Amino acid sequence: MKVIEIEGGNKLSGTIRVSGAKNATVALIPAAILTDEEATICNVPEITDTDALCDILKLLNVNVNRSTESLVINPKDMQNTCITEPYSKKLRASYYFMGALLGKYKRAEMYFPGGCSIGARPIDLHLKGFEALGAKVTNDKNKYIVEAEELKGANIYLDIASVGATINIMLAAVRAKGTTVIDNAAKEPEIVNVATFLNNMGANISGAGTSTIKIKGVDHLHKCFHEVIPDRIEAGTYIIIGALCGTTLKIDNVIPEHIDSLVSKLEEMGVKLEIGADYITVLERTNKLKSTNIKTAVYPGFPTDLQQPFTVLLTQADGKSKVTETIWENRFMHIPYLKELGADIEVKNQTATVIGPSDLKGSEVVATDLRAGAAMVAAALIASGKTNITNAEHILRGYEQIVEKLSNVGAKIRIKEI
Ligand code: EPZ
Repeated sequence: MKVIEIEGGNKLSGTIRVSGAKNATVALIPAAILTDEEATICNVPEITDTDALCDILKLLNVNVNRSTESLVINPKDMQNTCITEPYSKKLRASYYFMGALLGKYKRAEMYFPGGCSIGARPIDLHLKGFEALGAKVTNDKNKYIVEAEELKGANIYLDIASVGATINIMLAAVRAKGTTVIDNAAKEPEIVNVATFLNNMGANISGAGTSTIKIKGVDHLHKCFHEVIPDRIEAGTYIIIGALCGTTLKIDNVIPEHIDSLVSKLEEMGVKLEIGADYITVLERTNKLKSTNIKTAVYPGFPTDLQQPFTVLLTQADGKSKVTETIWENRFMHIPYLKELGADIEVKNQTATVIGPSDLKGSEVVATDLRAGAAMVAAALIASGKTNITNAEHILRGYEQIVEKLSNVGAKIRIKEI
């Protein structure tokens, strides 16, 4: 098992470059099999989720040529085989192969996806979308078979603006006969990145980034080149770390409007930011941090994926703050470990009440899920003494070279195998 060890109390300064977005990459890789030719994707983060998806491509006999931060994917010899549990359970996003295989072959066979245990994480909206397109879904224990004689465009209303369901339906519909309209679609930037990728292949998708997406089915998808957008959650995580212990910390390769909600909350608290066209610098702060309240919401609201690291910042704010989580029913697993470090937090239903400022002291903590792990890193960086974060594999799933990036700006951090 991997453990991240941090000696807290150091001020961080310098530049951290943000990598390609995990939550775009994990959809782009399955989407790439839809082309009849070859897809080149650059700015691909070197994280274990990328590895897991490339393993599934190889299982499907898809030709993958991987070099630094880029993938050349050629599905000309692929076989539509069952994606077995050892492959599907490594991450939630394996389910994008359901939509992509259905869209390409009118048949997908795979086991239920994995992913962080932040909630039940059902896929009913995905399956409802596939059925609306004419597919039949059979589910034998953990295995799904989704197949259709023909896929026909349909009008699909999503009861929840689900990121995964929006993307998966897009993948299934892109080669269907006729037009599909997704209403109450999710609007996250990663969805726009996937739609752009498919359009670069010759698909006909409009409205991505709004709550109504129209997909006109096409017969052929051709060779294309594409770039992953910068990871807004990685960027936000490092900006929060800068607010915690930065003197002057520049976060480079950022699309600032993708994290407007975070920026306004930070400025409300008194964090000093310099916002450039493609970077955000956290400036040295002498003033105290003001408490504030956040409530997670679908994009462009405050992102649930930054709720956990942001809670660490609230432990340093003056007074009472409230964190309300509206997307996932089990996304407070970091709280007991923050309390172990000395934070004053009480959870009631879906709201955590944080009293600050608290002096945090190093201890032994666990990364229960990806963003809880990021919260542990943020807390350990300001805690006095040494902190060991076990189950660090969770963190490496979504943060490329986090140990290198933080040590390059002055953190005393290392990773060890135990
Ligand atoms: C994506 O998950 C992200 N993961 C999550 O990031 C992120 O937290 C989430 O979107 C919300 O922004 C990836 O992109 C790989 P949803 P996804 O479908 O698509 C319910 C991270 O840390 N729902 O938008 O799984 C669901 O239970 C990860 O990077 C259904 O009920 O999220 C949840 O309450 C964690 N039925 C809500 O909708 C469905 O069929 C939003 O889920 C689908 C979802």
